Amino acid sequence: MGYKSLARPHGLSTASETLALFTGLVTSNSRRLPVCSQCRYSSTRGPGRPQPKTKLGETVYPTDEWHNVPPAIASSIGRQLHIQKDHPISITRSIIESKFPKPTYQHHNGFVPVVTTGQNFDSLGFPPDHPGRSKADTYYVNASTVLRTHTSAHQLDAFRANSSEGFLISADVYRRDAIDRTHYPIFHQMEGARVWDRKKVPHGNIAQAVWEDIAKLPTHSMIVEDPNPPTHPERNPLQHGHSHDEAEALAAHLKRSLELMVVEIFSRAKDAAIATNPKYVDEPLKVRWIEAFFPFTSPSWELEIFWQGDWLEVLGSGVVKQDIFEKAGVPSQVGWAFGIGLERIAMLLFEIPDIRLFWSQDERFLGQFKGMSDDLHRLKRYVPFSKYPACYKDVAFWLRSSSSSAGGGIRANAADFHENDVMEIVRDVGGDVVEDVTKVDEFTHPKTGRKSLCYRINYRSLERTLTNEEANEFHEKVSRELVNKLGVELR
Ligand code: DAH
Repeated sequence: MGYKSLARPHGLSTASETLALFTGLVTSNSRRLPVCSQCRYSSTRGPGRPQPKTKLGETVYPTDEWHNVPPAIASSIGRQLHIQKDHPISITRSIIESKFPKPTYQHHNGFVPVVTTGQNFDSLGFPPDHPGRSKADTYYVNASTVLRTHTSAHQLDAFRANSSEGFLISADVYRRDAIDRTHYPIFHQMEGARVWDRKKVPHGNIAQAVWEDIAKLPTHSMIVEDPNPPTHPERNPLQHGHSHDEAEALAAHLKRSLELMVVEIFSRAKDAAIATNPKYVDEPLKVRWIEAFFPFTSPSWELEIFWQGDWLEVLGSGVVKQDIFEKAGVPSQVGWAFGIGLERIAMLLFEIPDIRLFWSQDERFLGQFKGMSDDLHRLKRYVPFSKYPACYKDVAFWLRSSSSSAGGGIRANAADFHENDVMEIVRDVGGDVVEDVTKVDEFTHPKTGRKSLCYRINYRSLERTLTNEEANEFHEKVSRELVNKLGVELR
């Protein structure tokens, strides 16, 4: 959904976006403009018909023509991997929590995933035309209710509750997205924040209070590249009402706190690697701060880690926009916030190669982490069990030309076609048996102007060998559903 990129001021670097595909903080379609196609799950309503409803978790919600939550997603709500004992997502959460201790930071792990569009977008200053709001990217329960797409949806409420100087919120988040080894429509994020109150710090001197708190934090010896000044008039502006000294102090506290978290994660990753392979040789840990843009922070940064030869984006962060504190009824507070994708960190920490594994109930997976929640010193890397053969199948089709008349059902003409609709059909049919889906061909017929697309689907179970007949059955069903739901013509 790319909560930053389309809102990014022109001319800024987007170099980190490719790597960012992995974090779940930014997704592959971040720069595409939204196209809201008609809803595939819409119900025809007429006078006198009862209002349609859907049950999510324990609660019943009214639905409308915006509803696009498929049954497979609805039934996964409540798995809460981030609080399952000995689950790698939960272990990762505990490691991070250990660096943000109580009582300064309160830890929240049970917020319900159904939120209002107000919480998910408006409270954070997302403009009305932001692509993240599109039905192609977000699961809507109804026009004003969504499955949260990020943990930032709870920021304003947590500031309003004002029950501690800091908080961590870990939760499942939901996004319609591509299918590959690093993307899954449900993943987990952790949101963190730390605040100071102008009315409570001595002489109202925020900068001094923050520097005093920085002095209490440990130091570290990790290599940090941070070439830019804390604020920049165009690229990373100081907020109205903040002094330069305040922003500088907040930035320094944010950066040190998050660097200490990274040091913790990676020293544990190293111990886990050594426990699994005593001959393991690691490279010195290196991170860099990159200027960024989010609608709800200014200045803002991303943190990247140099890992196995590449820079990987691991988190987004920044100085919280003052109007969020104002809307929360705590205008005298200032502070910083961050958001991090837990799957990505867990994949690095344990060397887990495929995001679907987190959802596996297979003892060969889960059994490897037994006892680690109670003793974080016992971390070991994941040892893959045998990889089953891949089975690739292609499906090629024509989209309807934009001028063709719609004859009922759901259209996918060239103008309103969205790749995530293909992804969702494949997921609905194949579930976790699909490892990835890639577009392998695209062209427009020179005479008719019709557009043709070809997708390659890799059917591979994590748990057993699929027979060719089974893969064929899945594939035929996918092809039929593409015709039925998107109105494409198979080639
Ligand atoms: N919510 C953002 C996302 O999902 C991540 C994020 C960025 C959270 C900056 C923050 C922040 O709290 O300050 O892409």
